[in-house]
Amino acid sequence: MLNVCVLGTGYVGLVTGACLADLGHAVTCIDIDPAKIEGLARGEMPIYEPGLDEVVARNGEARRLSFGVDPSGALGEPDLILIVAVGTPSGEDGSADLRALFSAVDQAAGLRAASQAGGHLTIVIKSTVPVGTCRAVEAMVARRLKPGSFSIVSNPEFLREGCAIEDFTRPDRIVVGSASEAGLAAMRALYAPLTSQGFPLVEVGALETSEMIKYAANVFLATRIGLVNEFAQICERVGADVDELSRAVGADRRIGPAFLKAGPGFGGSCFPKDLRALTSFAADLGCPSEIAGAVIAANERQKHAMAAKIEEAVGARLCGRRIALLGLAFKAGTDDVREAPALSILSDLIAAGASVTAYDPAAGEHFARLVPGVRIADRIDRALADADAVVIATEWPEFLTIDWMAARLLMRRPVIVDLRNHLEAKRLIALGFTYRGVGRHASPLPVSLPAYAPQPMGVQDISEPPSRAPAR
Ligand code: UDX
Repeated sequence: MLNVCVLGTGYVGLVTGACLADLGHAVTCIDIDPAKIEGLARGEMPIYEPGLDEVVARNGEARRLSFGVDPSGALGEPDLILIVAVGTPSGEDGSADLRALFSAVDQAAGLRAASQAGGHLTIVIKSTVPVGTCRAVEAMVARRLKPGSFSIVSNPEFLREGCAIEDFTRPDRIVVGSASEAGLAAMRALYAPLTSQGFPLVEVGALETSEMIKYAANVFLATRIGLVNEFAQICERVGADVDELSRAVGADRRIGPAFLKAGPGFGGSCFPKDLRALTSFAADLGCPSEIAGAVIAANERQKHAMAAKIEEAVGARLCGRRIALLGLAFKAGTDDVREAPALSILSDLIAAGASVTAYDPAAGEHFARLVPGVRIADRIDRALADADAVVIATEWPEFLTIDWMAARLLMRRPVIVDLRNHLEAKRLIALGFTYRGVGRHASPLPVSLPAYAPQPMGVQDISEPPSRAPAR
């Protein structure tokens, strides 16, 4: 059992702290927000994450997990792993705002120095930070603590909202980067309960490599989605089906099937922010990330292309039409609406003069806080009443159980725009709905044959062999 202190009890900090306690470590989670800490002590989760409340409760009862606002007690422990998981929001220019991170680390190093605790302090940076930040943290801590008494480790997280507990306990890999053997040894001990089950620990020798891995993974995944969404647009024009395309392309082992689902564009707290941060610091370094920049632009285009799709499905201008918008979270399984496609879709629909009633099983309150005045229904049927079209913007399982026969009677027009290709299109079309998905169920282009003048029979010379191999 190791002593662990987590600075920052946001999404990443809380999941990490609770799951490390579940592995058997003694964990103190610290946050500057007393209301959040008091709520957690009462068992109230500040975020929506399936299963998290149970992990927090059982480790609280076992006295392996505690919460507080003051890190000084934890920082007096002789051998300590200090995990920094404070937020690094996007600044105006897309660069990561690191003020909270530096201030938390500086304060912790000052408290550690004042405590005169012996033993080793391993400072683990979990927040997603631009490359070079960990080295700057190292220089900052070196002003307060003796050389050899501490080490800095970069340990990025790869948790997906909605499956964070599963992602923590069954990781594809755990990445740790440090030039310090003491730091790497502490990480091996921290994650031993996972590595002993066969989950791989990838050790890299430089802080910068580890920092870069996090951006590379997220930009790579976002690029796959960006590309498949572009394919979806092309598929619609030519009458191809993007879901079948993704299945076939993803069956190639070099490509793989994950993150090839076309939709209304990606959102969330990570992909857009990390893409912007990478493009910002790469440009500052003089090696602009043109691909990441193009993915950001393509994703914006995709989100804003959805209103035109809805207009086409309704078959008339949107002004004065009533639209039921089902799904507000940036994906299913979360109440998070940060950069959710539903936000752009709603504002485009309202700008076009439509009136919108929205529904989401988890994210309604958060959405209403971001978009004051939006009409949120507390039940699906209330959102559907008198609608000229229903738009599915998040792939919630609940939408699979809608009784569409009954829904048809509630709606003014039977039009479904399924932006997640979530519903059973054939059945809905059979029920008399006009159905539009993303990248499928469009009519093929009219056939236009190339100009072709047939040769008169017998004139063609076939004695010469072909001068070159036919193109593949
Ligand atoms: C992501 C990364 O997956 C995770 O490793 C990182 O630590 C944080 O960012 P998250 O933002 O929780 O996790 O969600 P994710 O499941 O990755 O989805 C991101 C966005 O992409 C969502 O809007 C989702 O709807 C969209 N998406 C995902 C697609 O449109 N198609 C896909 O095939 C997959």
